[in-house]
Amino acid sequence: MENNRPVWTSKYAFIITAIGSAVGLGNIWRFPYVMGQNGGAIFLVTYILLICTICFIPLLNELYVGKLTKKECVGAYEAINPKFKYFGALNPITGILISAFYFIVGGWIINYICKWKLLSQISDYGEYFSKFIAEPVYPCLLTLLFIFICVYFTARGLKNGIEKANKIFMPMLAILLIFLVIISLNLPDAQKGLEYMFKPDFSKLNFHMVLAALGQAFFTLSIGMGALLTYGSYIKEDKTLVKSVYTIILSDTTFALLAGIMIFPAVFSFGMEPNSGAGLVFVTLPKIFSQIPFGDLISFAFFVLLFCAAVTSGISIVEGPCATLTERFNMSRQKACALLFVIISLIAIPTTLSFGILGDFKVFGKTLFDFLDYLTSNLMLPSNTLILCLISGWYLKIKGYKILKNKFSESLFDIGLKFIVPIALIFLIIAGLK
Ligand code: PFF
Repeated sequence: MENNRPVWTSKYAFIITAIGSAVGLGNIWRFPYVMGQNGGAIFLVTYILLICTICFIPLLNELYVGKLTKKECVGAYEAINPKFKYFGALNPITGILISAFYFIVGGWIINYICKWKLLSQISDYGEYFSKFIAEPVYPCLLTLLFIFICVYFTARGLKNGIEKANKIFMPMLAILLIFLVIISLNLPDAQKGLEYMFKPDFSKLNFHMVLAALGQAFFTLSIGMGALLTYGSYIKEDKTLVKSVYTIILSDTTFALLAGIMIFPAVFSFGMEPNSGAGLVFVTLPKIFSQIPFGDLISFAFFVLLFCAAVTSGISIVEGPCATLTERFNMSRQKACALLFVIISLIAIPTTLSFGILGDFKVFGKTLFDFLDYLTSNLMLPSNTLILCLISGWYLKIKGYKILKNKFSESLFDIGLKFIVPIALIFLIIAGLK
C-alpha cells in the first residue's frame, strides 16, 4: 500500500494546499468576531505572540510525524507505538464531527452567493438570517451540496482534485480579499476600524481572552485533527519542513489580518458593533453592503471569497478520514469518499435542523450545532494536539531526528513538546470544560 501512496507534485503544491487548509472560515468568519468579542487590538497582539511561539511547535510536529511515518493518522500513531493507534483514530473522528458543523456554514455561504441580487433589498438582516437557517429543507440541501463539493475534490485525488482546487481557489481568495480591503479602507471613518484593530487597550488583557486567542490559533492553523499529519505524509523525503511551517503561519496570519482590515473599517464606518458574534459576517456585513455603491457586487465577491476559503479547508478536513479509510480498509478513494459523504450528511442534517425544528433537542444544554462546535473546537482539537505532543516528545525522541538546524532550537522544540505546549493545552481544555 505504502508504495501506492500519493505524493505532492511540487513543493508549491504542498505549501498552497497546507495554506488552503489553514486559511478558512476560521480566518474570515471566526477570527473577526472572536476578536470583536475579546477587546480588539489586545486580542490581536496576544494571538500573534501565541501563533509565533506555542503554535509553531505542534504545527511542525504534526507535519513531521506525517512526513516521518508516511502513514495516515491511525497508522502514524501505531508506527510510534502500536498501543497509540486508538489515539490516532480520534483524529478522523474529530474530522468527521468538525465537518458536520463547518459544512453547514458552507451551505449558508452558498445561499448568500446565490441570493446576491436579493440581498440588497432586505429590510431586516437579522430576521432574514434567523428565518433562513431555521427553514427545514433549503439549508439542508445547501449543506449537502457543500459536503458534495468538498468530497468531490477529495475523491479526485491529490493531483487532480486537492491540488487543483487549491491552485484555483487560493489565488482567487487572495485577489478578492485585496480588492475588498481596498474598498473598505476607502470608506469614511475607516481609520476608526484600524484603531480598533491596532491600538491595544491593555486594560482588556485577561486570562479568558488569552485562552480565546490560543483556541483561535489552534483552530485556524488546522492543528489537532490529523489534516496536516495526512498532508505531511505526502511530502517527499527531501523537503525541509521548518521553512514551510513559517510560510504557513505567516500566510495564515496575513489572511486573518487582511480579513480584519476588510471587516472592521466597514463596521465602524457604518456605526455598527464589532462584537455581534457569529452573525457579524451574515448579518452585519450584508447590511453594510446594502448601503454602499455596487454593494450587491461587493457582497457577491465577499461570499465567493468566503466560499473559496471554506472549500479548501473543507477538503483538508475530508482528506484525513479519507486517507484512513483507503489505507486501513483498502478502499478505493472514490468508495471512501462516497462513504464519507453519507456519514457526514447523516450527522450534518440533524445539526442543520438544530436551528429550526430540532432546536429543542439539547445535548448537555446545547443545540446540536453548538455542541459539535464546542466539543470539537474546545475539547477534541486541543486534546488530540496534547496527545500527539506528548507522544512525540516522550516516545518519538524528535530531538534525535535533526529537524531543526541547531542544538539550541532542538532543545527548545523538545521542551516545548514535552512541557510548554502540553501545559498550555491543559489550561485550554480545562477552560473549555467550563
Ligand atoms: N483552519 C480552518 C479554518 O481556519 O477555517 C479550519 C480547520 C481546517 C480546522 C482543518 C481543522 C482542520 F483540520
